[in-house]
Amino acid sequence: ELQAVIFDLDGVVTDTAEYHYLAWKALGESIGVPFTREFNEELKGVSRMDSLNKILALGGKENSYSDEEKLELAKQKNDHYVELIKQVTPDDVLPGIRELIADIHAKGLKIGLASVSKNAFAVMDSLQLRDSFDTIVDAAKIRNSKPDPEIFLKAAEQLGVDPAACLGIEDAAAGVTSIKGAGMFAVGVGDSMTLAEADIVYASTAELSLDQLLVQYQGTAV
Ligand code: BG6
Ligand code: MG
Repeated sequence: ELQAVIFDLDGVVTDTAEYHYLAWKALGESIGVPFTREFNEELKGVSRMDSLNKILALGGKENSYSDEEKLELAKQKNDHYVELIKQVTPDDVLPGIRELIADIHAKGLKIGLASVSKNAFAVMDSLQLRDSFDTIVDAAKIRNSKPDPEIFLKAAEQLGVDPAACLGIEDAAAGVTSIKGAGMFAVGVGDSMTLAEADIVYASTAELSLDQLLVQYQGTAV
């Protein structure tokens, strides 16, 4: 029996994945490492420092900066990102998400947030969604970023629910890997090739319906 639904934030609850992309793209260009949207898929769901390291590796610059300089580059990206998310309002919740949250509450299921972003609480406040969630994992307390299962396991633990009774929703390949590693049912939102590891993929959040998700979840339950 399903007991909880655990959401990723950026790219699932709201379109801040686009702001992360714009801020990393600007940072990459400023150090001579331009990259495509296709490469950006590898950054989704990945922590700030891990993302920077992937960009540096792409440009063959993994040994070009000291740890201190890397912290400065990461700060530059974050300052830009923080500037961009100032425009986030409650109107920026993606289509279908408020309805899904309301249906989850109506069914008496628990609801959690598993984002590795240190800006997650600020974004949830801007969306006025913080009180709609039973728990929000604090990214500062997570040692291993997605694709490691740690953050989804932490969300289940904070909710007091068995991971097998949880369903996770993600837009990132690393996030889907994290959900599956945690032993949960994985729902992908986005491209079915990119998210092939998910149990089911929808093209957009507008297609998410709790009734359908329950049918899919029960189909795989043992
Ligand atoms: C994830 C995003 O939610 O958070 C990544 O998908 C981002 O793109 C990561 O790098 C870390 O976010 P922040 O806000 O702590 O730099
Ligand atoms: Mg995401």
